[in-house]
Amino acid sequence: MEVAVPQVLLRPMVAADVGAVRALDALVQPAPWSEKFLRDQLANPMTTTLLVAEGADGGPVGHAALVVVADEGHVTSVAVDPTHQRHGIGSRLLAALCRDARARGLTAMTLEVRVDNAAAIALYRRFGFAPAGVRPRYYVDPDGTTTDALVFWVHDVEDPVFVSVVERQAMERAEIEERDGGMT
Ligand SMILES: CC(C)(COP(=O)(O)OP(=O)(O)OC[C@H]1O[C@@H](n2cnc3c(N)ncnc32)[C@H](O)[C@@H]1OP(=O)(O)O)[C@@H](O)C(=O)NCCC(=O)NCCS
Repeated sequence: MEVAVPQVLLRPMVAADVGAVRALDALVQPAPWSEKFLRDQLANPMTTTLLVAEGADGGPVGHAALVVVADEGHVTSVAVDPTHQRHGIGSRLLAALCRDARARGLTAMTLEVRVDNAAAIALYRRFGFAPAGVRPRYYVDPDGTTTDALVFWVHDVEDPVFVSVVERQAMERAEIEERDGGMT
């Protein structure tokens, strides 16, 4: 059965989103961010881009973050509410971060992902992120479980192939609106 694409708006995260973003994270992340961490990130727009995808009821149905380290952009999260997954929201959020990295004049992007996170790995590969190594026991969950991380890179954010992939992802998901370029 064809499921209608929910109406979604990409916009910068604001302080009022913090509670709802944490609640969303608790649904999809084994070790959700703390409120303090989110607030600290919001206080640093020079080095952090925080986006939310806002659903029809005005609350976040997804969020994503990019942290600038020297001339690299580190994707520190992409998360979508389970009831809104597979509607292109994760792709649009990641495309917005990739555009933001270019707008900031960064050269490369990187991220870590759990080795067993097939959905996220498929998403990143679709954008051209390539695996470059493993960080053993990188994730330590509250229950003590450890999981290895795969490290992914895009070494040149100005590579025309990467740029066109990002733009195609954004265009294919054109039903998702963007406000303020979706950027902070
Ligand atoms: C990873 C995640 C953000 C993807 O969000 P999404 O909005 O569902 O992603 P999209 O709809 O844009 O999917 C884009 C592509 O990613 C891949 N993908 C997404 N979910 C997938 C799944 N469950 N299994 C396999 N591939 C998947 C597919 O290639 C998909 O394209 P398609 O739907 O045309 O086949 C979402 O699954 C999520 O929030 N997971 C939990 C949080 C998380 O693990 N975040 C990443 C931490 S590093």
